[in-house]
Amino acid sequence: MNFPTVVNVNMVSLVVVAVFLLQGALFQPPQASGFKILPADGSLTHQQITEAAFLRKMAEVCRDVAAARGRDFTLPINSKLTPTAVQRACSNSYSSLLKIPTFSLAISQTSLSNAAVDGKLLSTAHHFDNEDFKNGRDLITQGIAAVKVSMKQGRYLSARTSLGAVCHTLQDFYSHSNWVELGSTAPFSTLIRPDLPLNNLAGPNTKICKSCVGKDCSDNILPEILQQKILTSGYFHLFSSNKPEGKCSHGGFLDRTSSRDPTGGINKDGISSNHGFLHQRAAEMAINATVELLEDIRVATGNQAFLQLMGLNQTSVLAFVFDITGDLSSYISKAKRASFSIIDSRRGTSEEPSEYILVPFNNQDSGPLIRTGNADTFKRHINSLSTSVGGNFSDMALSGLLLTLTQAPPSSDIFVFTDSSAKDSELKSAVEGMIEITKSTVNFLLTSFSSRSGKNISSSRLLSQSDIQLYRDLAHVSGGQTIEVTDTRLSQAIITDVITADLVTVLERSSAKADNFSFFLDPSLSNVTVYVTGDSPVFILYSPTGVSQSGSVADGPLGSILTVGILRRVKLNSDNQTGEWKISINSTRFYSLKIIGQSTVDVLFFFVEIFERGHEDSWGQSFTRPFIGRNATLFVSVTGGDSVTVTDVLLVEASGSGVVNGSIKAVGATDFLVNVDRIPEGAFVVQLKGVLNDSTQSLPSQFQRQSPTQYKGSRITITAQLQNITLPGVPFSLNFTVASNTIGGNYTIRARTDLVETDMSFPSSLILVAGGSAQGSINLTVPSETESGTAVTLSIEAEAPGSTDLNYAIVLLTVSTASAIFSGCYSLCMCLSFSCFFVFHFV
Ligand SMILES: *[C@@H]1O[C@H](CO)[C@@H](O)[C@H](O)[C@H]1NC(C)=O
Ligand SMILES: *[C@@H]1O[C@H](CO)[C@@H](O)[C@H](O)[C@H]1NC(C)=O
Ligand SMILES: *[C@@H]1O[C@H](CO)[C@@H](O)[C@H](O)[C@H]1NC(C)=O
Ligand SMILES: *[C@@H]1O[C@H](CO)[C@@H](O)[C@H](O)[C@H]1NC(C)=O
Ligand SMILES: *[C@@H]1O[C@H](CO)[C@@H](O)[C@H](O)[C@H]1NC(C)=O
Ligand SMILES: *[C@@H]1O[C@H](CO)[C@@H](O)[C@H](O)[C@H]1NC(C)=O
Ligand SMILES: *[C@@H]1O[C@H](CO)[C@@H](O)[C@H](O)[C@H]1NC(C)=O
Ligand SMILES: *[C@@H]1O[C@H](CO)[C@@H](O)[C@H](O)[C@H]1NC(C)=O
Ligand SMILES: *[C@@H]1O[C@H](CO)[C@@H](O)[C@H](O)[C@H]1NC(C)=O
Ligand SMILES: *[C@@H]1O[C@H](CO)[C@@H](O)[C@H](O)[C@H]1NC(C)=O
Ligand SMILES: *[C@@H]1O[C@H](CO)[C@@H](O)[C@H](O)[C@H]1NC(C)=O
Ligand SMILES: *[C@@H]1O[C@H](CO)[C@@H](O)[C@H](O)[C@H]1NC(C)=O
Repeated sequence: MNFPTVVNVNMVSLVVVAVFLLQGALFQPPQASGFKILPADGSLTHQQITEAAFLRKMAEVCRDVAAARGRDFTLPINSKLTPTAVQRACSNSYSSLLKIPTFSLAISQTSLSNAAVDGKLLSTAHHFDNEDFKNGRDLITQGIAAVKVSMKQGRYLSARTSLGAVCHTLQDFYSHSNWVELGSTAPFSTLIRPDLPLNNLAGPNTKICKSCVGKDCSDNILPEILQQKILTSGYFHLFSSNKPEGKCSHGGFLDRTSSRDPTGGINKDGISSNHGFLHQRAAEMAINATVELLEDIRVATGNQAFLQLMGLNQTSVLAFVFDITGDLSSYISKAKRASFSIIDSRRGTSEEPSEYILVPFNNQDSGPLIRTGNADTFKRHINSLSTSVGGNFSDMALSGLLLTLTQAPPSSDIFVFTDSSAKDSELKSAVEGMIEITKSTVNFLLTSFSSRSGKNISSSRLLSQSDIQLYRDLAHVSGGQTIEVTDTRLSQAIITDVITADLVTVLERSSAKADNFSFFLDPSLSNVTVYVTGDSPVFILYSPTGVSQSGSVADGPLGSILTVGILRRVKLNSDNQTGEWKISINSTRFYSLKIIGQSTVDVLFFFVEIFERGHEDSWGQSFTRPFIGRNATLFVSVTGGDSVTVTDVLLVEASGSGVVNGSIKAVGATDFLVNVDRIPEGAFVVQLKGVLNDSTQSLPSQFQRQSPTQYKGSRITITAQLQNITLPGVPFSLNFTVASNTIGGNYTIRARTDLVETDMSFPSSLILVAGGSAQGSINLTVPSETESGTAVTLSIEAEAPGSTDLNYAIVLLTVSTASAIFSGCYSLCMCLSFSCFFVFHFV
């Protein structure tokens, strides 16, 4: 077994004090951080604990389903489970292939949110420090309620974010309290049960600890505490050594309280902690407690919803954005036919969408948005679309797309049907931002104008090259395609490719000069397709064995080539694919190259914010564009392999050939943190190369993947101020600051939420001087009937004058009527189900 390469990364490990750039927020020093975030010295980390619990619970569910259905389940449920093994076993239980990449994605999303708790949450309750049991338990039970509400609403990303935060606090209990020292043999179920009383808590004056003997803290809890089974936890403070008399400390060199009598501490964060001899037991108990939590959620929400939470039955959403302008009988019938064939090609398959969305647009307006779960109803809606006579030759395509992106769940498949240019092209940046936020795929189906009836083609809605380029750019950013619907039969082949499941991107480049590109195809890939788009570029493909085929040969030794408009699609033959390929393209006009295939081996990329605190670093997903020119960190997770070696992670400029090389640090068998020392100026993609050591493959094989979507940096930063929890029907105000080190001027501000009927007001523009900042505030009121626990995504965008730059920030707000926990600790407590990491800046 080969383990990942560890390239040295200068992960700063200094004591860094957190200071909020938040006006009015309370300053609080970091609390004890709990189980480690980065793996070191064999100690178990939060991520490993969370992953182990996910795998074990999932395996148990699948074992029970197999038993109920009389199927085999042979996977031993032990500490050696891997996502691949569990997914295989579960697929057998359910007799349909459950998806591995989305399972890994669910684990990553939950872990990233878990880890972020360290960076953002500075209250004792979040870590069960200072005997703060009641508030800690409230955080957990309210968080569980939020997870369940989000699941009921089908918002699984929000559910995972809340779940990750709950997991962190729950797991910390076992490290920071004396539950393990009390000889407990099972998790403390009261923590997930709001109805049970918290008994036997240490009173404020109860003396608990005596000083350690030198470094030996193995016997520092008083015997009567252990006999009476009194529950306590360690006190922690970075600056002050004050603690109530006789109380235990957390311990460790950062904890000033541990130098005061009783000295030493009781934490079990790692094997070298004061109670490190109990680390393994505390970590196992934390795994079992997390399993119990997951079981509670499963029982409350049902197996099907639970599978979705785990990412094993991720249902997809199919959205159509339809141009209905003009007297377009020919266009509309073609578009309808194409849309029906997309719907039909997914029916009855594991890819059948759980929801369909339709958004019409014309030259004045877009909407309303129609949702349905029924394919036939959806088809009826499409069929009843009628066209209105238009006088203008361009339509509100981007408004329609923006509405769809805002309302559809993340990772939806969106198809835009149009035959005209976009009247609202100024929304391009906003649409790009929303594509990045939602990770939805956008495909454009452009109906050929030449066959339209009753129009003077030369003066009418002819799509110019720049119109097409706008659509192509947007498709490109999202990892989608722009397809000209010329001949229905030919287009159908491409559409089928686009909507195939488990597609991974091997390589994608665009250029306007002759170039050679090489790429590795690994044995896990099948149905590899090469697309060359552009004004008749000349190309030759070379196989690893040296066989070549010219782009002008429709059926050759390497594959068959189909030409649709400006798109050339090469379907590779399945023999002898493995190895290094080359494609040589000769063109002086703009062209793009895209190589995709089907594989369970894929890569997830997230930009993360590193929080340096204590002797550990932690990170949380960053929901904003990284800053151009500065360093940044990516969390990279390779799915579908048991062990991988990553040799290269590169940021490759989308246009041009600039490359930024990342330094890689393994944080798990298939997870990595990658540091890049600068973010490129323009759009870029992330490319990964490495070696797969899959137990099912006899030999390690080289592989490469690329982010399906493009990324962009920005020179604008948006920081949102933390405020109070959102109450249904009650106005809520949130201050935010826009700063820019690029041009000054009139910045356009946009804000939107994904909760319909949210009443919102905000300034439509802010004036910034070059290098300066400005503050704005958003007032919003969520409908009074909103259920407590509902997550609301608020995105705030700032766009520089002339659309030269844009950034966004996302705040996940939770609507809550539960006030107990929030009184007295305002800003900080909201982070339980807020992804508010980006609002903190560490100096
Ligand atoms: C955790 O649960 C497993 C399976 O139920 C059990 O074998 C193990 O002893 C438990 N570990 C702890 C520390 O309680
Ligand atoms: C997956 O989800 C779909 C739609 O929600 C449902 O019909 C199907 O039964 C689910 N599969 C499993 C294995 O639960
Ligand atoms: C055409 O566009 C102009 C300006 O954009 C607008 O004032 C007019 O109402 C539009 N006409 C129609 C029929 O949509
Ligand atoms: C691509 O490779 C071919 C042959 O391997 C070579 O003749 C050609 O010059 C290369 N083109 C570029 C742009 O490097
Ligand atoms: C993918 O390839 C497999 C065989 O490798 C074949 O059975 C399957 O039909 C192909 N799928 C598509 C969508 O072409
Ligand atoms: C595949 O490789 C084998 C052995 O290298 C060779 O005999 C066979 O002809 C190759 N097939 C094709 C289609 O290139
Ligand atoms: C590329 O095309 C140009 C003009 O079509 C031709 O002169 C040149 O030789 C070609 N280069 C290669 C490497 O084939
Ligand atoms: C990233 O840049 C900041 C200054 O902008 C610097 O303090 C920090 O050390 C850099 N981090 C790495 C890992 O290079
Ligand atoms: C938070 O909201 C509660 C109830 O609306 C209010 O009593 C409290 O003062 C608010 N706290 C802050 C800091 O605004
Ligand atoms: C928001 O900003 C305004 C204006 O600067 C300020 O008066 C207000 O106190 C701020 N709100 C909060 C909650 O800090
Ligand atoms: C900034 O732009 C907005 C809309 O584009 C406009 O309403 C506002 O008057 C402008 N502000 C200034 C100070 O020019
Ligand atoms: C938000 O509400 C406050 C007080 O109700 C008001 O002063 C402010 O102008 C409002 N801001 C916006 C952007 O509407």
